[in-house]
Amino acid sequence: MASVNTVLLAISDNQEWSDVKSVLVNEYGYRVLIANTAKKALSLTEEANIDLVICEAYLEDKSALIVLQQCRVTCPNAMRILVKEANGDDKKNHVAAERAAIYQFIRKPIDAEQVGMVVKRALETAELSRRHRLISRELKLNDDSPIFTGKQNGSAVADCSRFEKLVYVSESMAELCNIAKQAAGTNLPILIQGETGTGKELMARAIHFNSNRTDSPLIVQNCGGISDEMLHSELFGHMRGAFPGAISDRLGLFRAADGGTVFLDEISEISPAFQVSLLRLVQEGEVKPLGSDINYHCDVRIICASNRRLSEMVAKGEFRQDLYFRLKGFELVVPPLRDRRDDIAVLAEFFTRKYTELTNVKLLGISNAVLDRLQHHPYPGNVRELENEVQRMVALAKDGEYLTIRHMSEEFSSIIPDQSSTDAFPNLSIDGATLKEKVESLEKHLVKEALNRLRWNQSKVALELGLSRVGLANKIKRYHLANTS
Ligand SMILES: Nc1ncnc2c1ncn2[C@@H]1O[C@H](COP(=O)(O)OP(=O)(O)O)[C@@H](O)[C@H]1O
Ligand SMILES: [Mg+2]
Repeated sequence: MASVNTVLLAISDNQEWSDVKSVLVNEYGYRVLIANTAKKALSLTEEANIDLVICEAYLEDKSALIVLQQCRVTCPNAMRILVKEANGDDKKNHVAAERAAIYQFIRKPIDAEQVGMVVKRALETAELSRRHRLISRELKLNDDSPIFTGKQNGSAVADCSRFEKLVYVSESMAELCNIAKQAAGTNLPILIQGETGTGKELMARAIHFNSNRTDSPLIVQNCGGISDEMLHSELFGHMRGAFPGAISDRLGLFRAADGGTVFLDEISEISPAFQVSLLRLVQEGEVKPLGSDINYHCDVRIICASNRRLSEMVAKGEFRQDLYFRLKGFELVVPPLRDRRDDIAVLAEFFTRKYTELTNVKLLGISNAVLDRLQHHPYPGNVRELENEVQRMVALAKDGEYLTIRHMSEEFSSIIPDQSSTDAFPNLSIDGATLKEKVESLEKHLVKEALNRLRWNQSKVALELGLSRVGLANKIKRYHLANTS
């Protein structure tokens, strides 16, 4: 927690406090408010965002323990410290102290250095529990399967690229991930667009974990299917009484994630009113809780995702243009899986390993017939659909088996692969009179077939055919092959 933003409230009618205040302000850089009556203290807790309250045992107008109990309601996130008399009677206050949920007490005479140290520890504890709350929430929200960590030697997965949990070999994904890595290093908002299941959320996480905010929280909020008021109070917070049911103040995720990243999924679904509030956050770095007149500063990096094209929504007047421009500091479009079929085999293998590890089944591999079918599916549900299919197959397979067509769902097993491109060899008519001409005709055919199948990715074709890149280029030239797709 940055000290400059930390606000302490000292409640005391005692002059000794000026020394304590100067230590807290000068050595620790905290902002210190002093209230000399309980009444003034409580009104301050309603106005300012207090992080810690330190209260003298005897005040003129009210018992300190009662004041601290009331602070639990007026500023529930503030830590509470009690200053006791040198020889006060502890026992009789035990119940009240419990109710006030005091973090620590200090006994008089006050030692300013000791107060400084206890305050610092209290704030560290508050920060730790705040992060713990956020992480627990995060884990509940994103009940991700464990990361695959098995041995990957000798498989397609061993040759693929990784960006955190994203697995890919296609050039389009490689390019996108390079941009994403660059974007991660900046503080600009990022808009990730793409069909459902293409890996937008995985990309957002990868960006957060590659940014300098990685020690602070990543908070995920889906903006679809939630009322405007709920979304507003969830993200911007609310004050007690702001609406029926708002029984206490709520900090809001933006302020809770201060220093971190907030991932807003399905951003296309937010209301015009919410768009205005979000614009203020992106432009001024300020949030205003529901029912409050105060704008609070907060430093969060926004990553949004949408499976609807925001530019089209702007054109139709369904989304504010100014907000759209602000959100797309970087605009990343994750291509659908059918447009990067190179990724299918590595993803299939990756998911097979992931689920065999989870279920403890030992499989021999994936049969070619299965890979063929997987290659030819249109994938309206993208990677998620592929993952579900593989997960299902692994669940049906037994130890020592290959994944075969009989493990596939009807939807996939009924696909008839395109024979002309993948299985042309048996019907091949070989031109040429001499053996040399026949061999050349066959060679031309094989090179052409591999080029077409691998979408003219010459590195891959060269690798598959055991040629150097130059060797492959020579053959393309010799046989006058051209990319006609
Ligand atoms: N490139 C990838 N590598 C590994 N897993 C992926 C990849 N892309 C997507 N997934 C998996 O597919 C599923 C859907 O991804 P997700 O990020 O939720 O997509 P989206 O947010 O675009 O709907 C998740 O289980 C995710 O782990
Ligand atoms: Mg998603």
